[in-house]
Amino acid sequence: ETDRVPSGSRRRISVVAHRGASEDAPEHTLAAYRRAIEDGADALECDVRLTADGHLVCVHDRRVNRTSNGRGAVSALELADLAALDFGSWKGWGDTRESPDTESREHTSVLTLERLLRLVEEQASAGRRVELAVETKHPTRWAGQVEEELLRVLARHDPAIPVRVMSFSARSLHRVRAAAPWLPTVYLMQFLLPRHRDGRLPPGVPVAGPSIRILRAHPEYVALAHSMGHQVHVWTVDDPADVELCALLGVDAIITNRPRHVLAQLEGL
Ligand code: G3P
Ligand code: CA
Repeated sequence: ETDRVPSGSRRRISVVAHRGASEDAPEHTLAAYRRAIEDGADALECDVRLTADGHLVCVHDRRVNRTSNGRGAVSALELADLAALDFGSWKGWGDTRESPDTESREHTSVLTLERLLRLVEEQASAGRRVELAVETKHPTRWAGQVEEELLRVLARHDPAIPVRVMSFSARSLHRVRAAAPWLPTVYLMQFLLPRHRDGRLPPGVPVAGPSIRILRAHPEYVALAHSMGHQVHVWTVDDPADVELCALLGVDAIITNRPRHVLAQLEGL
């Protein structure tokens, strides 16, 4: 009886679309984020990197080689170089960048953080609340400039948009907190290192972001983090057995490539 998932678990767990609904659409494209919103995701996750000319774009890898038809490091390319690339064909999507329709055109183009924030704002004005979880990627040649630009971009948008900043880098989160203490931060952890085992996070960070691998090996971590007053946002949870484990442990958010399936599973619990 003790391993029964409490009924109503679904509403307590936020479902975060990892790089958008990236199982169905090319990751980090507007198409993937629109799909995630249609699927009912509570929040959108995106990784941000700074281009050579100082724009924040949503790209996971240091280089564009895997997810586009181009080559090279994001930090060495300008936004115009990235805009010339096709970010859809690698996933089997035709290149829509020549389409006469603006919306389709954007579907295989590089996505800027600005555009993603506009999407979230458009949703808010239509009465649909969507949160944004922005991950700063480190190491990068631009170091602290990533956080500076992130805060500049956010300052140009509606402050009511619920944004949190995630990072594996405690230094990155510290920079954000120092300049914008009102922004919630999430400390990502790939492994449970000795310094994490007492449940403490870097000073001022409210949310723990363990990998699902950590929870499989240390399920007690969720209760420990909760006892320290932290929320727990787990990544990247695609396997139904892992969704079940997260529900059982009472995590606060599940970050997944397949929000539609995770929502359906949680609804059924
Ligand atoms: O949401 C956290 C997760 O995205 C971290 O891993 O490599 O997918 O950015 P990664
Ligand atoms: Ca990420």
